[in-house]
Amino acid sequence: MAKSKSVYECSKCGAQFPKWTGQCQDCGDWNTLLESAATIKAPTTAKTARFEGFAPKAQVQTLPQVSVKGTPRFSSGMAELDRVLGGGLVPGSVILLGGDPGIGKSTLILQSLALLSTENKTLYVTGEESAEQIALRAQRLGVQDAELDLLADNQLEGIIEVAQTHKPDVLVVDSIQTLYTEGLQSAPGSVAQVRETASRLVRYGKQTQTIVILVGHVTKEGALAGPRVLEHMVDTVLYFEGEQNSSFRLVRAIKNRFGAVNEIGVFAMTDRGLQQVTNPSAMFIKRAQKDATGSIILVSQEGTRPLLVEVQSLVDQSSLANPRRVTVGLDNQRLAMLLAVVNRHAGFSLYDQDVFVNVIGGVKVHEPAADLAILLSVLSSFKNKALDDNLAVFGEVGLTGEIRPVQRGQDRLKEVEKLGFTRLIMPRGNLAGATSDKLKILPVSTLQQAIDLAFE
Ligand code: TYD
Ligand code: MG
Repeated sequence: MAKSKSVYECSKCGAQFPKWTGQCQDCGDWNTLLESAATIKAPTTAKTARFEGFAPKAQVQTLPQVSVKGTPRFSSGMAELDRVLGGGLVPGSVILLGGDPGIGKSTLILQSLALLSTENKTLYVTGEESAEQIALRAQRLGVQDAELDLLADNQLEGIIEVAQTHKPDVLVVDSIQTLYTEGLQSAPGSVAQVRETASRLVRYGKQTQTIVILVGHVTKEGALAGPRVLEHMVDTVLYFEGEQNSSFRLVRAIKNRFGAVNEIGVFAMTDRGLQQVTNPSAMFIKRAQKDATGSIILVSQEGTRPLLVEVQSLVDQSSLANPRRVTVGLDNQRLAMLLAVVNRHAGFSLYDQDVFVNVIGGVKVHEPAADLAILLSVLSSFKNKALDDNLAVFGEVGLTGEIRPVQRGQDRLKEVEKLGFTRLIMPRGNLAGATSDKLKILPVSTLQQAIDLAFE
């Protein structure tokens, strides 16, 4: 018989210990152990699963015997979401949709389910909000007549029972942190509960070829029994990101067994729900001011999609012994490195200046192709000299002051052309085959050349 007892569980990795310690001995994180009531006989997922019934016996096959039907997919109803999913929903796949509270996960799910429900059977399990609250939101979104089934419950066994009789094609659980199973004594949202309930739902999805979408909250520190512990269990991990005070929302694929990762879908939150943004570049580069110093347009790349974003810098005399280097949406270490390069190879010393660099619209750019834009924007602010409004730029800056080619140069060039810019500073190494009649291409191979062209 299982006996109840206190255990200390790491809220980050889920490891359990009989005693509290300041540091988790498994993942090494500090102050993550929390007391929880647990059964000594830990109800591990795999074992309890076996005896639950209906799992068909697996057979050994040789590789050529395995029939590959190709992955049938159907649309989620929203093209931007399909794009992130790698072309649509795959039957039997399990998707985790993570994101900060209030970012718009439930809104996205409701909009998508409403569209899906015209041709598919859907079941929306809400453990967080009441059915009335969902209905209210549906009214706001103008989808109150959608034939989707709602279940306000958070007990796992009950939910699976309903699903088994209801047989939905798409089952959504919003959110996984509110679910609990009777088999565990710890509170909903604890690592043990989250992991157990999710693994049971994964199994249900696989056995019945149901698409299961799990909604999960992440906190900034990833501290709460967040979706992190679930990432390895599911087929696809999507993260919903954006800043609270900006209306842009990006859905990003972090992991996808059925498609490419780092693909993004772009949405804007409006008072009638999420609108798809099919031409995101045009949205991110609406500049408020002409001739603003420190501002430049960067051609970045998200998945297979080029994305134009505005990078802004502010360089100001520092009163600190260690001047500040602050980035938003960019890599902080990279900025420090770039400032060293610009000092050595272009002769601008910023050691006594505070440097702030920001990507507008809550976009995160983590690719070396942003280097040149960062430096030019910093120098524009430092020299108090505005850059040409019609100039776009991309390129990696090497430690020797050389400008290195980046991936997908051609796609980036096309996007710049499409959006009506007239000048593009790009790496000479990306030049092969690059032509344009609308755009003046300015190839550079050193940082100095780029600076000369930008500030000529
Ligand atoms: P929600 O989907 O509830 O977020 P999550 O499920 O990720 O916690 O959305 C929350 C925010 O979105 C809330 O602050 C209100 C805003 N919102 C709109 O701006 N327009 C809308 O049409 C809806 C439904 C929500
Ligand atoms: Mg919600």
